Amino acid sequence: MTILEQTRPIFERAARAIPEVEWPIHAPYVAEINRLKRERNAVILAHNYQVPEIFHTVADIVGDSLGLAIEAARTDADVIVLCGVHFMAETAKLVNPEKTVLVPDLQAGCSLADSITAADVRLMRERYPDAPVVTYVNTSAEVKAESDICVTSGNAVKIVNTLGAKRIIFLPDEYLAKYVASQTDVEILAWKGHCEVHERFTGAQIRAYREDDPGLIVLAHPECPPDVLAEADYTGSTQGMISYVDERRPSRVVMITECSMASNVSATFPDVDFVRPCNLCPHMKRNTLPKVLHSLQTMQYEVNVDPGVAVRARAAVQRMLDLSA
Ligand code: 13P
Ligand code: SF4
Repeated sequence: MTILEQTRPIFERAARAIPEVEWPIHAPYVAEINRLKRERNAVILAHNYQVPEIFHTVADIVGDSLGLAIEAARTDADVIVLCGVHFMAETAKLVNPEKTVLVPDLQAGCSLADSITAADVRLMRERYPDAPVVTYVNTSAEVKAESDICVTSGNAVKIVNTLGAKRIIFLPDEYLAKYVASQTDVEILAWKGHCEVHERFTGAQIRAYREDDPGLIVLAHPECPPDVLAEADYTGSTQGMISYVDERRPSRVVMITECSMASNVSATFPDVDFVRPCNLCPHMKRNTLPKVLHSLQTMQYEVNVDPGVAVRARAAVQRMLDLSA
């Protein structure tokens, strides 16, 4: 059997997201990656922002940051290849210290994670000693290690409400902090970090989409600025947006988030029409099929966390996972 014949069923699953003309380029990588995964007892976890040729053909588990953290904690594979960004691989390593965690590209960072250091968190604690530190997972392990608990966009409101504190320090995403503040009575002390992808959307842009189509349903990620969220029908994590489409099947929808979401999700919901604004995350887009193959061939690039940092960062992540269970 040729590689094209062998990989045909995989292509058919992904046909709505990957042009047929591209498949002869992807197929040899897909076949070899899937073979190496078996040989190495490896699992590929891919974030919802990964390109369709990773998301639909080689990923074993796809999801938002919370889903990937939960699945990383559950897997019995020896090797985890994390197709996402660096903080996601660190989180997978924190909950799996004995497993090998690989990333296809070490440069896949995040503007939110880069916006704050462990020293900044210590300074905030000194300034507000009564306020617990609640940290978005989009941070380095060093920053998590200075925190009381982690949250993701999928559980931030719930976790802040369960802490029982009058006020909290919420780091580092200013807009997510504002969104959480709008959903709770807890006083939120925020940092000024932003996602370089979501901060580019504007309320005026959303109003223009609605003028074109008054029936359009707008789903927005809480990393967007408040004037964008004010226009949205639903605000939630990337997985929350997928669940919204799955449960309500709007006829026309726009996802105010990273580009690949609409391509990936539209393949699963052919009856839904997706408006596709495109703000790319350059970090997520560093991952490609050739780099995933290279990663499994060479067992690079391994992500490790200093044990002294890991023990404290793991506690913050574990508290989140326990409260999300
Ligand atoms: P989610 O947890 O909603 O997938 O978000 C992660 C992220 O990086 C959004 O920019
Ligand atoms: Fe970070 Fe924004 Fe990219 Fe998500 S989309 S990884 S928050 S830079």
